Amino acid sequence: MAILLPGGAGYIGSHTAIELLEAGKEVVIIDNFSNSNPKVLDCIKKITNKDFKFYEMDYRNKEDLKKVFEENQIDAVINFAGFKAVGESVEKPIEYYENNIIGALALLDVMRKYNCKKFIFSSSATVYGEPEKIPVTEDCRVGGTTNPYGNTKLFIEQILKDVYTSDSTFDICILRYFNPVGAHESGLIGEEPQGIPNNLIPYIVRVANGELKELSVFGDDYDTPDGTGIRDYIHVVDLAKGHIKALDKIEKEGKGLFIYNLGTGTGYSVLDMVKAFEKTTGKKIPYKIVGRRDGDVAVSYTDPSKAKKELDWEATKTLEDMCKDSWNYIINR
Ligand code: NAD
Ligand code: UFG
Repeated sequence: MAILLPGGAGYIGSHTAIELLEAGKEVVIIDNFSNSNPKVLDCIKKITNKDFKFYEMDYRNKEDLKKVFEENQIDAVINFAGFKAVGESVEKPIEYYENNIIGALALLDVMRKYNCKKFIFSSSATVYGEPEKIPVTEDCRVGGTTNPYGNTKLFIEQILKDVYTSDSTFDICILRYFNPVGAHESGLIGEEPQGIPNNLIPYIVRVANGELKELSVFGDDYDTPDGTGIRDYIHVVDLAKGHIKALDKIEKEGKGLFIYNLGTGTGYSVLDMVKAFEKTTGKKIPYKIVGRRDGDVAVSYTDPSKAKKELDWEATKTLEDMCKDSWNYIINR
């Protein structure tokens, strides 16, 4: 029985593939490399010393998906595929709705045809919009998303709830990631955004290595101790391990639709992150304060206790690990 990873060549999917292979699972990856590089597949093999099947295809193509289900015994699907850049989604809403939502629907449709009913979905803390309370718990109100990307996460969550209502033999786990950062300790795989990075850590490491001149800090007038935005940064390997625990839950206990926040429970400000990177890399990170970025919230970090209690999962890597591994990847790539 294999675990199907649409988008498994991407940042989070590749780290999860490693954890699955190392846990002795059979893995099948599908990806169209719209935001990843085929060399990642060799890196996964090199790190794990294990092989897996790969299909280069668009996950929206139901005929190709059927072929994958015909040729493999798929027990569960962990869906990482989709577009994820907030700013780009504002400019290309049709592409975002089409890729993210049509893809999820195609998967669910083909899954039910092959009686594969275990689905884990990469959602995001963005579904909480302006969080109702801090720390954010899973029962906080969702909605108020400020861009098409966030809307796709919200809509797919609703689709999954409706699918479960219509067919309770589905076992569904929605994982709301906070801010994934870092890289595999081998330095072989990591986050590789195309063009100038939008997210904080990919930007900081490129300032540290001289590729970019200085960081723009988006606002220092938030109601936070140093005025800059606070987030719950989580090491991508901890996040990947969270998927193994979620899979265990739906494979062993099953029956239900579950929602978990995956984060550390600790918030760091933009300036905390700058200082942490300076300490780890020994490089000065020049920055300037600019205006707030549209759609940003002041503070977002989770209460991780539900995932700890029900999945027996918690993040173990430190802020130093996140900085060290992000830096190790960038200087080795
Ligand atoms: P990523 O872009 O690195 O990985 C996504 C992968 O999906 C890429 O390899 C891409 O080529 C592939 N893909 C996209 N469209 C496809 C299609 N039509 N057919 C086949 N493959 C396709 O992104 P990531 O950071 O690994 O994120 C994985 C998931 O987690 C995404 O759904 C993302 O929205 C979600 N998420 C990410 C973050 C984050 O900060 N990285 C935060 C919250 C949620
Ligand atoms: N920031 C800067 N300068 C930059 C980039 C970011 O000051 O150049 C600040 C932001 O204002 C924010 C913090 O750094 O306060 C983190 O910003 P990111 O863009 O790294 O992350 P976000 O929290 O905005 O969003 C990320 C993903 C979303 C996802 C969300 C929750 O980009 O897709 O985490 O998971 F939905």
